[in-house]
Amino acid sequence: MRVVETPAELRAALAGAVDTSFVPTMGNLHAGHLALVERAREIGAPVVASIFVNPLQFGPGEDYERYPRTFAEDCDRLERAGCDLLFAPGVEELYPEPQTYQVQPPLADELCGTHRPGHFAGVCTVVLKLFNLVRPRHALFGKKDYQQLFILRGMVRQFNLDIDIVACDTVRAEDGLALSSRNGYLSPVARREAPRLYAELKTLARAVQAGRRDYDGLEREASERLARHGWQVDYVRLRSRRTLLPPEPDERALIVLGAARLEDTRLIDNVEIDQG
Ligand code: PAJ
Repeated sequence: MRVVETPAELRAALAGAVDTSFVPTMGNLHAGHLALVERAREIGAPVVASIFVNPLQFGPGEDYERYPRTFAEDCDRLERAGCDLLFAPGVEELYPEPQTYQVQPPLADELCGTHRPGHFAGVCTVVLKLFNLVRPRHALFGKKDYQQLFILRGMVRQFNLDIDIVACDTVRAEDGLALSSRNGYLSPVARREAPRLYAELKTLARAVQAGRRDYDGLEREASERLARHGWQVDYVRLRSRRTLLPPEPDERALIVLGAARLEDTRLIDNVEIDQG
């Protein structure tokens, strides 16, 4: 695997590669990230990954400074997963001047956006820059960050980018907890509690499948149960998969999304629901 740090080196390394499959990450790679690389391999085109902890998508008081940086291990894992080229720029390479143009996506003030102002503008801006640098044919994202995936699909469509967005299922620990770089912040006690978020979202999903339609009540019940176990709940919301907004009465493709904090660690998860 070749590793490049600057846009110029990247351009040189990509010379001649027509189609590539791209996996953008912030590093501290786990099996969820590697599943994206493995899925990218199946596409058949050369696989490009990036590692960049993007300051623009972290709010004041969030974990930008302490975000885990494990570059050497990440390189080993990427190499073993079959990545061909890694782009790992420094902040000054990607933001040589203050980034005064930013992508302001719709839905940026919904769900996670309510609690993380500016986050999705930061994500879209860096992903658009990375897309322009890598010029991939395919780009792979995890469903764990469902709102991010949804917003990026919209960005690709509305800016007519010729990129096929591939969504990959959430990779979980055996107890159901969605793998996340932030899980490493959890104390042993919190780690044992952490699978409850997914468990509550699944309980809500089953209730909807069993015919319950009082979505507000279901959201409240799940939030209250989490709060009783020491969680600070940002939200639990039942949404349409078509719009990520509250569903119309006849909508069948639904999703329940949740974000909640244990100790100081913010976890997110979601469960897709198909109503018969
Ligand atoms: P990061 O959190 O490093 O995630 C990189 C990619 O891995 C995202 O597409 C994310 O959805 C996916 N991913 C993370 N955990 C996963 C899991 N358990 N199962 C499946 N996929 C998982 O998301 C970001 O970085 C950044 O916002 C980024 C898109 C790189 C822009 O800075």
